[in-house]
Amino acid sequence: MDPAVLPILSCPRCRAPAPFSDLRNPRCHACGLEPQAHIHGVLDLIDVAVGGEPTAGSTEQRLMESDLVARIYDRVWRPTFVRMLAGSGAGAAVGGLSGELFIHKHSLGLDERPGPWLDLSCGPGAFVRALAAAAPGALVVGLDISRAMLEVAAERTAGYTNAVLVRGDAHSLPFVDGAFGGVNNAGALHAYDDPELVFREVRRVLRPGGIYVGSTFAEAPSLVGKLTARAAGIRRFEPGELRAWLQRIGFADYEDVRLGAAFVFRVRRP
Ligand SMILES: C[S@@+](CC[C@H](N)C(=O)[O-])C[C@H]1O[C@@H](n2cnc3c(N)ncnc32)[C@H](O)[C@@H]1O
Repeated sequence: MDPAVLPILSCPRCRAPAPFSDLRNPRCHACGLEPQAHIHGVLDLIDVAVGGEPTAGSTEQRLMESDLVARIYDRVWRPTFVRMLAGSGAGAAVGGLSGELFIHKHSLGLDERPGPWLDLSCGPGAFVRALAAAAPGALVVGLDISRAMLEVAAERTAGYTNAVLVRGDAHSLPFVDGAFGGVNNAGALHAYDDPELVFREVRRVLRPGGIYVGSTFAEAPSLVGKLTARAAGIRRFEPGELRAWLQRIGFADYEDVRLGAAFVFRVRRP
């Protein structure tokens, strides 16, 4: 695990900046918290002592905690859901996940900023791996709350010395203010209990001039999409609504591109 992550961490319990001096036996110098090493290659910063182990509220999140779903996620689960919720044209328009990776990498502007980069709610690690390969000189941190997803992500990114995986909650990010040059956040807004809190956390961990790129689902055009979203309790975001929301929180320069009933957005922290 790249020790370059040490200065940008903050303790999930006491919020001390740079709490650990060693990633092999991490112990917070301020409150003594010792993160558990549940998964090889993942720093577990869910603080069970305070809030207890989080329980997956939604059906979708329970599935995200399943080993089977994590293993088949990129090849089967993700394309099927994108097709159902965003229409068959959405994936085809960009060539599936590889096209999305292309859009996200270029929207973040990997060549224009030094990083570090955060892939928020990284799932099984496709974006972490792509970012780590595209920006070999920069630190890339993948964060997710699901152990099953992180286990797959750890296997997939094992060869990338600049990639670090953290288990944490998007509503309370275990990083210092201004830690990142960019935050990537693909296909996860609908999964959060409180998106407002997540947006505020993203803004906090971005340095001035930092970029936030995300993707999510707008209102589905088809009946199948509408019914699937309703059955799975999946929240949709209209681009206009998201633009106003992010501006109110203090982001600037909102842009988006529609991919069927999904869209990728980009904003800047002034
Ligand atoms: C639909 S997947 C998207 C994964 C990946 N970003 C992609 O585009 O393929 C949503 C991810 O959000 C994660 N997630 C849900 N709630 C979270 C939270 N509170 N904090 C961090 N990650 C969360 C899930 O575990 C899951 O891996």
